[in-house]
Amino acid sequence: MKVAVIGSGGREHAIVKKLKESKGVDKLYAIPGNGGMTMDAECVAIGVNETEKIVDFVKTNDINYVVVTPDNQLVDGMVDALAEIGVKCFGPDKKAAIIEGSKVFSKNLMKKYGIPTASYEVFTNPEDALEYVKTAPLPTVIKADGLALGKGVIIAETREAAEKAIESIMEDKIFGESGANIVIEEFMTGPEASVLAFCDGKTLIPMVSAMDHKRAKDNDKGLNTGGMGTVAPNPYYTDKVAQECIDKIFMPTIRAMEAEGRPFKGCLFFGLMITADGPKVIEYNCRFGDPETQVVIPLLDSDLLEIMMACTDGTLAEKEVKFKDSAACCVVLASNGYPEKYESGFPITVDGEVDGKLYYAGAKLKEGKVVTAGGRVMGVVALADDLKSAIAKAYKETDKISFENKYKRNDIGARALKAFEEVK
Ligand code: AMP
Ligand code: GLY
Repeated sequence: MKVAVIGSGGREHAIVKKLKESKGVDKLYAIPGNGGMTMDAECVAIGVNETEKIVDFVKTNDINYVVVTPDNQLVDGMVDALAEIGVKCFGPDKKAAIIEGSKVFSKNLMKKYGIPTASYEVFTNPEDALEYVKTAPLPTVIKADGLALGKGVIIAETREAAEKAIESIMEDKIFGESGANIVIEEFMTGPEASVLAFCDGKTLIPMVSAMDHKRAKDNDKGLNTGGMGTVAPNPYYTDKVAQECIDKIFMPTIRAMEAEGRPFKGCLFFGLMITADGPKVIEYNCRFGDPETQVVIPLLDSDLLEIMMACTDGTLAEKEVKFKDSAACCVVLASNGYPEKYESGFPITVDGEVDGKLYYAGAKLKEGKVVTAGGRVMGVVALADDLKSAIAKAYKETDKISFENKYKRNDIGARALKAFEEVK
């Protein structure tokens, strides 16, 4: 079978590497992929948002199955466009991808079906929103309705900051039309956990839990990034929390989407906060997380293509989805300056064999050499029997990678390790 993966990040590289192990895969394409992925897939130079060209390429090359991972493409209906030419995909159609595409939709869904989340109000004009924050409890959380490259959330500590956030989102349109409507919600506290789940519209199977590290600097300082590293499993996601999530969040969500005539097929990502009142949903994503995928997928002990196709075909209940009883750590190597200004174009060298996996993201080929081409350059991933060893191993392997302006956090997994020790 010929399979194509749409996207160009470390998440897509992790999926490609895992699909390479699947029995049913004869040929793998990455569209567009990146310069560090060429060993694992044929990278096709078509932009991720050039849907028509992608559909054409899939048709001309008789590709049988397409894995669509990026949020914009799912929300814009790439799965629907491929279905029109009779090609099956892993990923939700446009109707179901709205669970990430509109925060107003997802918050209303949770309210209607009693799924625990922060209490909230929706605003369609700045005047009402500005009036509301005059008396809203602080801090308050202001979110653009639509996709905003993961940046559409502002936590305002003061009334002035809340007013500024409303004005910049709704009037100055810093997130474009994504900010035409906003959600203002209660500020929750507690540790966070990311849980990805395979879904076929009716059946949902959660994957091993993960912990992201979103801030650029050690000790969760600095700006928010796309993610500087991850560990799995997440110590705060205990068996008790997991059961509560299945009963009160995961199954009610998949049933709610079905009841709304929007059955969700693909990977549903639950961004959770474990509050004093139990787990609550921070956000849904309609796709694999990045860099969560880089630690979750290597721990999968089943055939990824088979599971993905079962999600598409509605036969997930017949499949066994197994995970290794191990731990994983991903340390992101970035270009110094990310997520703001940084330089790239520097050759990447790998000194000897890496004991683990390298998932490339911001990398491209230049005169036959792999050079840096983005903020997050790659994820270095190690697996071990326990988290402590996985972290130590991942960090040891990062020393084998060199490029100018290499930057990493030095405390990925430190908080998780402490929490595991407290739980023990
Ligand atoms: P999101 O883009 O929705 O994942 O939000 C980004 C980050 O903002 C989350 O990972 C949380 O750390 C934080 N956040 C979002 N919503 C809330 C909330 N209601 N209370 C506290 N923190 C939040
Ligand atoms: N790591 C969070 C995300 O993929 O949105």
